[in-house]
Amino acid sequence: MALRLATLWERAGLPAYELPATLSDAYGGRIGFRSSILYANFVTSLDGVVAANDAPPSAISGGAEADRMVMGLLRACAEAVVVGAGTLRAEPRHLWTPERIHPSLASAYAELRTTLRLPPAPHLVLLTRTGDVDPSLPVFEQGALVVTTAGGEATLRGKLPAASAVASLPGPDVGPAAVLEVLRGEGFRVVLTEGGPTILGQFLAAGLLDELFLTLSPRLAGRDGQSHRLGLVEGQAFDPSALPAATLLSLKRHRSHLFVRYRLDGERSSAD
Ligand SMILES: NC(=O)c1ccc[n+]([C@@H]2O[C@H](COP(=O)([O-])OP(=O)(O)OC[C@H]3O[C@@H](n4cnc5c(N)ncnc54)[C@H](OP(=O)(O)O)[C@@H]3O)[C@@H](O)[C@H]2O)c1
Repeated sequence: MALRLATLWERAGLPAYELPATLSDAYGGRIGFRSSILYANFVTSLDGVVAANDAPPSAISGGAEADRMVMGLLRACAEAVVVGAGTLRAEPRHLWTPERIHPSLASAYAELRTTLRLPPAPHLVLLTRTGDVDPSLPVFEQGALVVTTAGGEATLRGKLPAASAVASLPGPDVGPAAVLEVLRGEGFRVVLTEGGPTILGQFLAAGLLDELFLTLSPRLAGRDGQSHRLGLVEGQAFDPSALPAATLLSLKRHRSHLFVRYRLDGERSSAD
């Protein structure tokens, strides 16, 4: 049976691109974004774990086709995809393109990008302080923008293939606002981040994340003293009196997976 998400609830008036029929059938409706936006996409277990160091990245989602279809769709809408070096290290041979995650929808994703007047693939933007990444990885052959510190640039100097470039920022850290400024300078307005949780935490803490697409996978990961399991947000503990809050935009289902789309509202949610 053809894959189709059931739309359980959706806010009226969301932006809606013209989608190829294959994608609107699979997604159970249309999707779209305002002209300048930063949105994130993650999958989490029911107990809030997004990564386990003793399991492959697909362990949380169970490799569910519906999740891969949505990941591909969100990549297909983006001008750039931002990931941290931790996410690259977890999947060093990966390419953050729509067809890589769901190959049989490649032509539908390509058709959508043509309709949106986008180049064939979103540009990969890699965040690293140290520059300690393997320059021979496929992402760099394909063409990536590495945003890093002066130290990171020195580490990578002369090592990356010609398709890739480095933007170095002053200081020991690369602040999330400065990263977005670099991206806007490159002409990237519709930007997806696939994390990881450390990078997501920094965008959230800076109030720069506009939307979160979260897949709730019907699995329980658990935690103990030995295994290293990451939550959705790492490296930040928000003030309990000012927790970032969100408003539900869309709720979809496929079998026991739920697909939620939230708008980040700063500290106040209109849904409260
Ligand atoms: N479930 C999901 O949907 C999902 C999504 C994405 C990732 N993941 C998983 O999450 C895990 C990785 O998460 P993570 O939090 O460890 O890694 P991450 O957020 O992907 O990357 C962290 C790394 O990014 C760099 N970085 C962080 N802040 C920076 C800054 N301000 N400026 C410049 N560079 C900065 C640093 O790299 P350097 O050390 O090179 O300096 C840091 O080690 C993996 O297991 C991955 O599979 C899961």
